[in-house]
Amino acid sequence: MSEPILEMTDVSKRYRTAGFGRGRGGFLAVDGVSLHVGRGEALGLVGESGSGKSTLARMANGLVVPTSGTVRTDGRDVARLGRRGLRRLRRNVAMVFQDPLASLNPRQTVRQTLENVFRAHGETTSTAELVALLESVGLGAHYLERYPHEASGGQLQRVAVARALALKPDLIIADEPTSALDVSVRAQILNLLADLQRDQGISFLHVSHDLAVIRLYSDRVAVMQRGRVVETGPSEEIFRSPQHPCTRALVEATPEAELPARPAGALRGADRACHDRDHDSPNDHPVVSRPEAGATEY
Ligand SMILES: Nc1ncnc2c1ncn2[C@@H]1O[C@H](COP(=O)(O)OP(=O)(O)OP(=O)(O)O)[C@@H](O)[C@H]1O
Ligand SMILES: [Mg+2]
Repeated sequence: MSEPILEMTDVSKRYRTAGFGRGRGGFLAVDGVSLHVGRGEALGLVGESGSGKSTLARMANGLVVPTSGTVRTDGRDVARLGRRGLRRLRRNVAMVFQDPLASLNPRQTVRQTLENVFRAHGETTSTAELVALLESVGLGAHYLERYPHEASGGQLQRVAVARALALKPDLIIADEPTSALDVSVRAQILNLLADLQRDQGISFLHVSHDLAVIRLYSDRVAVMQRGRVVETGPSEEIFRSPQHPCTRALVEATPEAELPARPAGALRGADRACHDRDHDSPNDHPVVSRPEAGATEY
């Protein structure tokens, strides 16, 4: 198997917290996580709120610096990258965030937003190229001259995906890319991401609360609880036979529905089961890791 696009080894992140509340030495948001994303693969990262998913995702492209451990992207140790190396990393690893409206500048048209991505990397672009970029995310050329307030949430998330695609990344990190959107457009965005994985060979690290989404759109799953990965494996297998209590609770709370059109709060029970700090310490249960069929587990 070729080198993974992303490989994290024993990575931890301790946030320095001001004042009182979380004990001395800050708060350990990610605690000794090892995982990888293979080339062309979509890895889903699920877990309760506050389990460290976004922190982990941000360490993958250098937005958050790990306290310890190694992050290798495209075979290079992120901690050893100089300025030019970091720029190249940002080209190779693009991000799509939860709230497209918040992630786009309200004073810039879509054209300006996209042109800025090229400019930031010392490149020029043409209208034809921008139109092709919009078309690749299912938007017509007329969106180029629109401002964010002139488009819907789903259309804006397509723009955010176009922005992520502009520099032809190898890996896209999507952190809850549909949870701010209407249920009716969620599937469209998820299908768009799945098409990009299939047609352009882009790898994905897809963060979601929602195991139903991960099941449909990820090849493999990593389940996080309180800063640790407690279970990994192929999506279908995790669904068929979840081993860790946290995973089991998530699976039991996930409806069989084709799409994430579940009523709000349906996962509340799972959140409780994963969240209960009085018992069920992650240390009480072994980490469950399944090798992929026919592949080497990193
Ligand atoms: N900059 C920061 N400073 C201090 N603590 C932080 C910081 N960012 C996150 N945390 C804390 O680290 C923990 C993990 O946060 P993180 O955002 O990674 O979780 P998450 O799994 O993405 O949660 P959610 O599902 O709600 O998005 C949380 O307890 C959070 O309060
Ligand atoms: Mg998060």
